Amino acid sequence: MSIPVPSRQLFIDGEWREPLLKNRIPITNPATELIIGSIPAATSEDVDLAVEAARRALSRNKGNDWASASGAHRAKYLRAIALKIKERKSELAELESMDCGKPLDEAAWDIDDVSACFDYYADLAEGLDAKPKTHVSLPMETFKCHVVKEPIGVVGLITPWNYPLLMGTWKVAPALAAGCAAILKPSELASITCLELAAVCKEVGLPPGILNVLTGFGPEAGAPLASHPNVDKVAFTGSSATGSKIMASASKLVKPVTLELGGKSPIVVFEDVDLDKAAEWTIFGCFWTNGQICSATSRLIVHESIAAEFLDRIVKWTKKIKISDPMEEGCRLGPVVSAGQYEKVLKFIETAKSEGATILCGGTRPEHLKKGYFLEPTIITDVSTSMQIWREEVFGPVLCVKTFRNEDEAIELANDTQYGLGAAVISKDLERCNRITKALNAGIVWVNCSQPCFCQAPWGGNKRSGFGRELGEWGLENYMTLKQVTEYISDEPWGWYQPPLSKY
Ligand code: NAI
Ligand code: MG
Repeated sequence: MSIPVPSRQLFIDGEWREPLLKNRIPITNPATELIIGSIPAATSEDVDLAVEAARRALSRNKGNDWASASGAHRAKYLRAIALKIKERKSELAELESMDCGKPLDEAAWDIDDVSACFDYYADLAEGLDAKPKTHVSLPMETFKCHVVKEPIGVVGLITPWNYPLLMGTWKVAPALAAGCAAILKPSELASITCLELAAVCKEVGLPPGILNVLTGFGPEAGAPLASHPNVDKVAFTGSSATGSKIMASASKLVKPVTLELGGKSPIVVFEDVDLDKAAEWTIFGCFWTNGQICSATSRLIVHESIAAEFLDRIVKWTKKIKISDPMEEGCRLGPVVSAGQYEKVLKFIETAKSEGATILCGGTRPEHLKKGYFLEPTIITDVSTSMQIWREEVFGPVLCVKTFRNEDEAIELANDTQYGLGAAVISKDLERCNRITKALNAGIVWVNCSQPCFCQAPWGGNKRSGFGRELGEWGLENYMTLKQVTEYISDEPWGWYQPPLSKY
């Protein structure tokens, strides 16, 4: 028996508030197709309230407010949040799993990452106190200059459904550490755990308005947040199409944005690899989280001399993946997130077939699962570079394969994409790995692995995968702005208008 889904309202100004239009969105468990609860649907009036609350929170108790308090002060709250999340780990993992279909083990791993990420940004918040200013040496000794980092202000954070709480955390933790007040708008397809984050913040006594959580649809709740004149910055993770809309609306107010968008990442496998090791990383790189990962290495580029044997190997590994209800012990692949996503992935597979590709394995519903949005992990060969399956992000468990003859061809195929998020190279020859790493146009390169992600290292992409980097110290910079302070320290008058006139 699964746990009940808490019934929550919007979280605005430290209180639970019914959305002004009183609408709710049903939550469907993708493994059972049953409705298991609902979330409130915010609209632009609720966004206005949340933005006002965030703005107030930054100007409350002048002198001792969130933004100007010490980093150590903010770190205390971040650590308290991390601890509460740790305490609620099994419950949060279960809720996450029911909401987006990821295996319970994976969801538990995500929740560990969530609390580690809050702790990590608590450390960085404390680090801000240790270095309050940077001195800049100037060529004129009559001036002295320093630079301070300040929080950017009120930030709008819009996140997707594949790592619901973790993607929220990647933005909320650094924003709060920096001294910003935030409005988080999670995906309408998976918001339960972000509302629980709000509950955690209430429990630890986070000052009202510092974090507001608005659930709801993109056009009704996300768009008014992105275009709000009183929001100083927008950080978004999701599809390139929505990212482009957000950038367009932010541009009208010259509002800074960071965008973490789609991908079609390559994994290049050379002829010298240990076949089993490489096979496991290859399928993990594409089928972990059901391929619903922006950085999934969904294009396998394998040396022609080992291609036949390697394909046998990855099919063998793929068939070992346990597909089941995500709550079942040992589950390694659950359903995709929604009926819409299920249809979308099946359509990609149909189009690949109609364009002449071959389905090597998978491509259909597993026989033993009659209900739920389950799909067998799919490997597609006989792919040409003009096919949709090679070019577009599927966001599902679908790997497509091409072979190469030499390094140059491998690099050309790997970079043959509008995206530039992740890329992986597998070879025992580390010099070769270094050459390939340099040649890959991607924000993240994995060598002899694919996908592991650590909150200490920067995350983000090139080209149409977006810009800006989250995580690590770079993630904190996203929520800060620089102030140059220059002081005239000479006793002499400036002398530009008063004789004797200065000459240049
Ligand atoms: P999406 O990119 O539309 O949704 C991401 C977030 O943006 C959600 O919170 C959504 O409510 C919000 N949003 C949607 N329209 C908005 C707008 N006009 N203004 C402001 N916020 C808006 O992704 P969606 O609809 O969930 O999935 C569509 C496709 O995008 C998927 O099939 C998948 O292929 C891809 N996708 C890619 C992700 C990535 O990380 N690269 C993440 C999620 C989806
Ligand atoms: Mg859901």
